[in-house]
Amino acid sequence: MSLTLQLNSGHPIPIIGLGTWQSKPGEVAAAIKTAVAAGYRHIDCAHVYQNQKEVGEALKELFDEGKVKREELFITSKVWNTFHSTALAHQNIDTILADLQLSYVDLILIHWPQGYAENDGLFPAGENGKMRYSDVDYLDTWKALETAQKAGKARSIGLSNFNHKQIQRVWDNAEIKPACLQVELHPYFTQTKLRQFCKDKGIVVVGYSPLGNPGSAFFRKDGDPNVLTNETVAAIAKAHGKTPAQIVLRWFIDSGISAIPKSVTPHRITENHSVFDFKLSAAEIQSIDNVNKEWRLVDPGPRDGDHPHFGFNEEF
Ligand SMILES: NC(=O)c1ccc[n+]([C@@H]2O[C@H](COP(=O)([O-])OP(=O)(O)OC[C@H]3O[C@@H](n4cnc5c(N)ncnc54)[C@H](OP(=O)(O)O)[C@@H]3O)[C@@H](O)[C@H]2O)c1
Repeated sequence: MSLTLQLNSGHPIPIIGLGTWQSKPGEVAAAIKTAVAAGYRHIDCAHVYQNQKEVGEALKELFDEGKVKREELFITSKVWNTFHSTALAHQNIDTILADLQLSYVDLILIHWPQGYAENDGLFPAGENGKMRYSDVDYLDTWKALETAQKAGKARSIGLSNFNHKQIQRVWDNAEIKPACLQVELHPYFTQTKLRQFCKDKGIVVVGYSPLGNPGSAFFRKDGDPNVLTNETVAAIAKAHGKTPAQIVLRWFIDSGISAIPKSVTPHRITENHSVFDFKLSAAEIQSIDNVNKEWRLVDPGPRDGDHPHFGFNEEF
């Protein structure tokens, strides 16, 4: 059993998806096969994760073996920062489709509002740990996404890591309005203002790092908190006979937000999707809302912070 949210394009998005950032080559195909067998119908990918060819091979095998049909899956991918000019964004979308061995993706996002220097690898390093930037306006990138949707290469289009002013700017200039915003969201970073802003516009929110990415050293600093050991979450988990991860993911579902937990561990992949046989009470949802610490894990400020389009200098 699964649940979906409705995108403004008319297409449903399954509320729980499988994340694939940091799923290594040699691991990601097995993770996807385990996930599909466990009932996942939504997979979150990106060009920059550098594992999409293996994702594509896994999908092809699943389709060829009749384990799932293309139209039953919801596949997201993201245009990377070095492909923001309209022509390169088109090229990036074509590469994504070729790597995934798909004729269309269900959702394509602009991964970040800030563009990097083009034609020099995925991370064109500058000085002092900074990237070399491009001054391409993300409205140019948006035009490529609109064209991709019209051409049938993407069923829906959206944004990731944009703040509310940037979303409004795209909204005001768009021929096709954004269907989705993917941002970091978990009990220690509840994004209430951005969620309300999106709700008012009918934009579906997808929360990334929904478990606060407890296992990753990337972006994580000494002393950073662990969502999965929070006492409030632990107490609710005990009351329901569920794990902390399942309580966090159920908090997303009961709050009307999609979540895309990543795992390459079979029992965790299954655990993270076994969240459709219970509900949290209004009081439990509220008590998890209250553990918010405004703690942002994924913060590329040190490498991108003075980019004119960097989004995280705004309150929300
Ligand atoms: N748009 C963006 O800029 C952006 C940024 C970050 C992430 N994302 C997307 O969001 C997805 C999820 O975010 P994330 O990968 O940062 O973090 P996450 O899903 O919050 O956490 C993943 C980590 O938690 C572990 N884990 C998974 N399930 C668990 C469980 N039930 N109990 C204990 N540990 C568990 C995983 O370990 P194992 O794999 O070893 O099991 C992995 O180390 C990404 O994979 C990516 O698709 C998007």
